[in-house]
Amino acid sequence: MQNVSAQLCPRADEVDDPIRVDFSQGLKDGLRSVPKSIPSRFFYDARGSDLFEQITQLAEYYPTRTETEILSRHGAELVGDVQDTGALIEFGSGSSTKTEILLRFIPPTSTYIPIDVSATALNEAKSRLVKSFPHLHIEPRVADFSEPLKLPGSIRCKSKLGFFPGSTIGNFRPNAATELLRAFSSTLGPKSQLIIGVDLKKDPKTLNRAYNDALGITAKFNLNLLRRANEALGANFDLTAFEHRAAYDPETGGVDMYLVSQKMQSVQFDGFATHLGENEAIHTEHSHKYDIDDFVSVANAGGWHTHRIWKDENEMFAVFKFQN
Ligand code: AVJ
Repeated sequence: MQNVSAQLCPRADEVDDPIRVDFSQGLKDGLRSVPKSIPSRFFYDARGSDLFEQITQLAEYYPTRTETEILSRHGAELVGDVQDTGALIEFGSGSSTKTEILLRFIPPTSTYIPIDVSATALNEAKSRLVKSFPHLHIEPRVADFSEPLKLPGSIRCKSKLGFFPGSTIGNFRPNAATELLRAFSSTLGPKSQLIIGVDLKKDPKTLNRAYNDALGITAKFNLNLLRRANEALGANFDLTAFEHRAAYDPETGGVDMYLVSQKMQSVQFDGFATHLGENEAIHTEHSHKYDIDDFVSVANAGGWHTHRIWKDENEMFAVFKFQN
């Protein structure tokens, strides 16, 4: 038996840090399940967000540039019916980069509510946005977008437009996606609209290339989960002994990503211990790919009706606008 009590005790400020507590608990739960897994929302610490930013610039990773192209080309129609009194609410806003495209088409005195778990990301985004949009009312909310949220009373009577770009919805399998969209509907309230970016099913070669780039940035992004565990939780994953694996599986309808241990190793952190066998895989991400009709069904089940759908000319990516 491993002596786990010999582990360093986390400091009091660490025990109180909600992000650390959530990561520690989520990691333990995932590593206890069979097969082992780690929730993909833990990718995005500062280093992970930076690596994801690098992924979005890769030649093989088409989603970000394709969605940006669709938003830029159709921005006016996309936000067209948000009234002067309207509010834009973004779920998981991060750096709010894509939002800027839409904000150009929204009346200057609208309200923008970015929702993100990272207060730092929200502060940085706000400082940047106030320069380009000085009359915009920016009211950030630190929250996990998957939980229902009470919006500020100041926008109670305003028309609400939700925004969920980046195919983040792909991290949810269809039933979970329906539940998430239902939660968005209750957060936004009746007579709201929702703009959502969705990556589409396509030939496996293109998909496999997008998650196995030649520069190995996606592999670094994947491995960063364990580096983060070592740094933030004092875990002892042997980072040199893991291999990145990602493949599109037409059976599950998505790209599944794994970290495969190349050797047996015992891992401890925060009074928890586990064992990895040689070639044992930890599932780290499911990135679901949808057909247009499949996604419409998912949204319908979550209480949303199609207003309009835009695609790029190669039909790689779709932006949906729904109303509830
Ligand atoms: C941010 C969830 C949309 O699934 O494509 C990129 C994350 N993972 N490369 C995706 C990701 C590996 C990305 N999403």
